[in-house]
Amino acid sequence: MTKVCVIGQGYVGLTISVFAAEHFYVVGFDLNQSLVDSLNSAQSHIEGIPSSKLEKLIQSGRYLATTDPKDIEDSEIVVIAVPTPLDVARKPDLSFIDAACKVIAANINRPILIVNESTSFPGTIRNFIKPVIEKYSKQKFDHMYAISPERVDPGREDFNQKNTPRLYAGLTPEATARTRDFYSTFCDNLVEVSSPEVAEAAKLFENTFRQVNIALVNELAQISHALGIDVRETLDAAGTKPYGFMKFAPSAGVGGHCIPVDPSYLADVAEKVGVEATFIKRANEVNLDMPKYIAGRIEKDNEGSLKGKKVLVVGVAYKPNVADTRETPAELLIGALEDLGAVVSWNDSVVGTWHGSASSPLADADIAVVVTKHDAVAAEDILKSAPYVFDTTGKVKGAVQL
Ligand SMILES: NC(=O)c1ccc[n+]([C@@H]2O[C@H](COP(=O)([O-])OP(=O)(O)OC[C@H]3O[C@@H](n4cnc5c(N)ncnc54)[C@H](O)[C@@H]3O)[C@@H](O)[C@H]2O)c1
Repeated sequence: MTKVCVIGQGYVGLTISVFAAEHFYVVGFDLNQSLVDSLNSAQSHIEGIPSSKLEKLIQSGRYLATTDPKDIEDSEIVVIAVPTPLDVARKPDLSFIDAACKVIAANINRPILIVNESTSFPGTIRNFIKPVIEKYSKQKFDHMYAISPERVDPGREDFNQKNTPRLYAGLTPEATARTRDFYSTFCDNLVEVSSPEVAEAAKLFENTFRQVNIALVNELAQISHALGIDVRETLDAAGTKPYGFMKFAPSAGVGGHCIPVDPSYLADVAEKVGVEATFIKRANEVNLDMPKYIAGRIEKDNEGSLKGKKVLVVGVAYKPNVADTRETPAELLIGALEDLGAVVSWNDSVVGTWHGSASSPLADADIAVVVTKHDAVAAEDILKSAPYVFDTTGKVKGAVQL
């Protein structure tokens, strides 16, 4: 049976591993030993990947998680699914991809297909991944290189690996064909594009489109409040137009690994080719300022001072029904509230533990601010937690709305 290695067993890597393991023998390589141990004892850490499915694959000998680079040997296909964050200067940080390339180079002993699913700027597979692997390989191999950016939306049930259209392109026609053969075993809708750069750029633009439109409605929320009109009613009204309009919702800002991060990859590559990505820069500013704007609104509503007030931030995951807190706007909101003298705690039963401390009870606050509303949390319980509740989600009727 063809052996596939997936480097990185996070949201993307584990998802792809589980789907691929229906057709191939999959080795999931990760540096995190405790994650690997829990995966091998059939504990899934991803919403949408049931532990029972993992158990079935382990029992049938189709899936193994490992931290041992030697287990990468003899793979015929390697998929890279490692983080691509921003560094402290909010510039692309390819250090995880670099490390993944080095471990592939050191452990692959024949020509194979190498596919990158990590999100990065156009030119990453051609000008970064291929050269690094070639530089660190013990022998010269003519590997096939391709890109197939991941579009998984964790927690979503209507679109998954099988029915979400998947872009792909190889550096050579053979790489493109081999990539199609691989993904067609578990994806129904493959979309070939003319170059890896097009696929890489499309992925970045998908998330840039969302980031810019979210910033636009966040600005509209501020304009609407100043005008004394309801932003959500305005958006619902605009949404009755059957064409030429797409509705986005205002919020405390953007979170997760993609929307706050990917546009900066596009802005960075734009700068390198002499184009200023002005929309991306402005959208970043608007979204990153939302927590400060919200803290200011709450202060104004509470006799102009938050000094010593007990403020409970409800929902610190970056979106409903997931435990993921990466880049959550709750973090900036807590900082903005503390800057105004509030004593801040947080509640999120889905996240449970965050920054080493446990979720506080949903009760006994002077002020509650809803950043994310999980389905499991009742709006009535949120309303009972404090005499003043500010809702950024539009889901807690009776609270003060953004
Ligand atoms: N999460 C999403 O919804 C999503 C969607 C589309 C694309 N992406 C992109 O996919 C990529 C992976 O994202 P993710 O959400 O799966 O990240 P993640 O943080 O959930 O998982 C990444 C995993 O890679 C492991 N890792 C890091 N360096 C490694 C190395 N050198 N070798 C082996 N394992 C290593 C980490 O331990 C971790 O388990 C990123 O580029 C991201 O932008 C993510």
